[in-house]
Amino acid sequence: MDKIIVEGGHRLCGEVRISGAKNAALPILISSMLADGMNTYANVPNLRDIDSTILLLSNLGARIETSGDTVQIDAGGLNNFEAPYDIVRKMRASILVLGPLVARLKKARVSMPGGCAIGARPINLHLKGLAGLGANIEIKHGYVEASADELNGAEIYFDIATVTGTENIMMAAVLAKGTTVLRNAARDPEIIALAEALNQMGADIHGAGTTVITINGVSSLKPVSFRIIPDRIEAGTFMVAAALTGGNVTLVNAEPDHLGAVIDMLRLTGAEISHDGKTVKVQGKETITSVDLKTQPYPGFPTDMQAQFMVLMSVANGTSVISETIFENRFIHVSELKRMGADITISGNTATVKGVSKLSGAPVMATDLRASASLILAGLVAEGQTKVNRVYHLDRGYQAIEKKFAGIGAVIERVR
Ligand code: EPZ
Repeated sequence: MDKIIVEGGHRLCGEVRISGAKNAALPILISSMLADGMNTYANVPNLRDIDSTILLLSNLGARIETSGDTVQIDAGGLNNFEAPYDIVRKMRASILVLGPLVARLKKARVSMPGGCAIGARPINLHLKGLAGLGANIEIKHGYVEASADELNGAEIYFDIATVTGTENIMMAAVLAKGTTVLRNAARDPEIIALAEALNQMGADIHGAGTTVITINGVSSLKPVSFRIIPDRIEAGTFMVAAALTGGNVTLVNAEPDHLGAVIDMLRLTGAEISHDGKTVKVQGKETITSVDLKTQPYPGFPTDMQAQFMVLMSVANGTSVISETIFENRFIHVSELKRMGADITISGNTATVKGVSKLSGAPVMATDLRASASLILAGLVAEGQTKVNRVYHLDRGYQAIEKKFAGIGAVIERVR
């Protein structure tokens, strides 16, 4: 099991390149299943979740070649409709193959993704949407079994603006007969990117990025060449790190348009942020001002940035009330931060963070992808050494994070 060891007390300075977005790459690579022929995807991040997606797609019969950050996928030979438990349990986003499988092979057998550290994460809205398009859905032996001779366009209402639910049903609807309207759809940039990739394949999708998405079914799609958008959560993580250490960090290959809420909140804490094209500059200040935070669906402040922001507030100059409204159990990082000296009290989905002058380094445990990033951030400013265990969580969503931090002045290393 790899560990990451961080020595606190070093300001971050320099330039860091942001990789492609994990949560855009996953649905877009999977959308290759909707066409015959070779699709080419550029700026794909090198992550464990991407490896899992490639394994899953090759299991289904796709031919895949990777070279550097380019992935080529030909799903013409799709010949298997089953996504097995041992792959789905490693990456719950595997559920995204459900819609494309039913659209292409008229049936699917996908293991139910269990819950995960941050919550139960049901998929009832994915199944409701697919049933709405005319699929027959059964749950048997822990698997979703879906089938449909043909899918017909329909009005689908999401009780909750679900990101992968919107993506799953969008992909199922592109080859359905007639028009589908998704209401209360999620508005994330990753959904806009997926719709752009699908439209470049010949789909007819309008309104992605708003709460109403209209999909006019087409008879077939053709392969695409597409570049993955930058990862707004990786970018936000490095922006918090710069503010936290009073550093001066330039992010390149970022997308400031996707970071509105993060930039806004960090400015309220006192950080100086400017951006020009795909470059974002963050100048941290001596004093960090406490501000309250509430996570919201996009374009609100992202839940995937909540743990990172909590670290910033744990060494701010007052008290911050942080509310997590998306997932029911996304404060697992709190107990680890408290072991490092943070003063945090939880009540339901709200954490009250009283800023302390110093954190102290300690051996800590990572539990989910973003929580593990927050422990690295805490180590950057803690007194002494922090050892983060179970970093495989980190590798699911951050490409070579210790190398990127070392490149801007952190004293950090990975030990096997
Ligand atoms: C996506 O997860 C992201 N994952 C998550 O990122 C992110 O935290 C989340 O969106 C919220 O922004 C990917 O895109 C692969 P949801 P997703 O469906 O789609 C409830 C990371 O760190 N819900 O938008 O699974 C659900 O329980 C990950 O990269 C239902 O009740 O999230 C949650 O409370 C973590 N029924 C809320 O909706 C459903 O059928 C939002 O979940 C679906 C969701």
